[in-house]
Amino acid sequence: MKYSKIMLGAALIGATASTIFAQETLRSLAEERGRYVGAILNSEWFNNAIESQFEEIHKTQFNAVVAENEMKFDATEPNKGQFSYAKGDKMVTYAKANKMRVRGHALAWHSQVPGWVNNIRDKKQLLDVLKNHIDNVVGHWKGEVAEWDVVNEAINDDNNHGWRSNGSVWFQTIGAEFLDSAFVWAHAADPDAELCYNDYAIEWGLGQGSKAGFVVDQVKRWKQNNIPITCVGTQTHIEISHETTPQNVRALAKALAEHDVVLNITELDVGFPQGSAGSLGASDYAKQGHLYRQFMDVFLEEPNMGEFMIWGVTDAHSWLDGQQGKTQGLIYDKQYKAKPAYDSLIASLKAHPASEVKSPYKSAVTPPDSSATTDSTTTDSTATDSTVTDSSTVTPGDTSSVAPGDTSSVAPGDTSSVTPPPVTPGDSGVGIRHEAIASMELRMNLVGRTLSVAGAADAKVQVFDMRGRPVFSSVASKGSVDLSGLSNGLYVVRVRDGARSLERRVALR
Ligand code: XIL
Repeated sequence: MKYSKIMLGAALIGATASTIFAQETLRSLAEERGRYVGAILNSEWFNNAIESQFEEIHKTQFNAVVAENEMKFDATEPNKGQFSYAKGDKMVTYAKANKMRVRGHALAWHSQVPGWVNNIRDKKQLLDVLKNHIDNVVGHWKGEVAEWDVVNEAINDDNNHGWRSNGSVWFQTIGAEFLDSAFVWAHAADPDAELCYNDYAIEWGLGQGSKAGFVVDQVKRWKQNNIPITCVGTQTHIEISHETTPQNVRALAKALAEHDVVLNITELDVGFPQGSAGSLGASDYAKQGHLYRQFMDVFLEEPNMGEFMIWGVTDAHSWLDGQQGKTQGLIYDKQYKAKPAYDSLIASLKAHPASEVKSPYKSAVTPPDSSATTDSTTTDSTATDSTVTDSSTVTPGDTSSVAPGDTSSVAPGDTSSVTPPPVTPGDSGVGIRHEAIASMELRMNLVGRTLSVAGAADAKVQVFDMRGRPVFSSVASKGSVDLSGLSNGLYVVRVRDGARSLERRVALR
């Protein structure tokens, strides 16, 4: 009966099936659940230099938007007191027309600051500049930008995290009070806007000395001092091997919930090492989808998460290739074809009924289009249960090396960590864990600047900085490699032997 009515409808208006059945989208499913799923508008969009499919997909699939570069300091106040709002206005108009939430990114950041600001050495003068910038920019978009990244990337990458000094005119000239002041001024300029602290590498766990732990400490202090912070953004530019990061984000969300602060995923991409671009196959994209899905699972299950933002739409336009030594990290390929990651996100949303998903701002999300059907044909080619756990450990006695995201205690006698093999459809998480435990022979040990590898003849050693950029690569042909060429700091070391690999976070001093 239902079917014949639909057929009749189709015949009457001469429409195709696809216009009768409003397709389920990331957007429609997120809206039903009182959540936002978004993506940047790339700079190419602002310059009218992007394929028409981009906007079509963007407004169909997403209900939140952020500018890749166009609301940053150098874009909005390139010269002292001369504000440039045209591009940001273009985004706000687009967002209004398509009923999307706008994130404002970013007010106080050490990067993409114009030269005239970077040269200021007088504290009072720079405080005035920051206040004036915030008053004007937040004031201009008052009521239109729902949420600001008030401060971006203000924490350094040293082992004992503190505020970033190197390269930050804000910290060098003003000191740490620039952060507190920025929040207070942003709140004064738009009391209804949500105000975030945003950073990278806070998806690496809350272990001792972690960046995420430092963020939580600051949030606590801000709340105690009535600094009007309402949210934290985890950028989450990760790569395919960072399998513990979704659960680390969950732990961070829970820690922030204790302070009544929302956690948003603000810049997600899941890149592959650039060199692998030519050899990626179905299982690689399935694994990527699995990671995307795990982030969406965590996002939907944690009640104090609100936005799930991806740093791009299509692999044809992504900062990963040009600036990060990574590639193919988004959910649409270069031809705008949805990748397995897209199906995974849809599957995760559908696996979390709206009645069970809590929202920090349920009332604010645009109600879904009532014509949307509950088509359940989308399958998730990458879905497995999410029982893959952090198989990493900390070397006993080595307090400086913390495995990515390890929040757990030291496993005595266990000095290695084995990364589970790529997840393929049908794998069960339990099987993966058993396999991981069964093959724990690959080991690494760092003494000074010499990294020894045991359990492999010619293991490949790669070192990445805290943004996941490759900084060193060699083969441990005699069982060790010399890392003395690297400067002091925190790194992730990956040792790979065929299908086996292990990763550890190390501090070089
Ligand atoms: C990136 C943009 O994608 C690039 O186009 C630009 O050249 C550099 O910045 N963290 C952030 C974002 O907070 O603003 C950065 O965006 C990516 C890392």
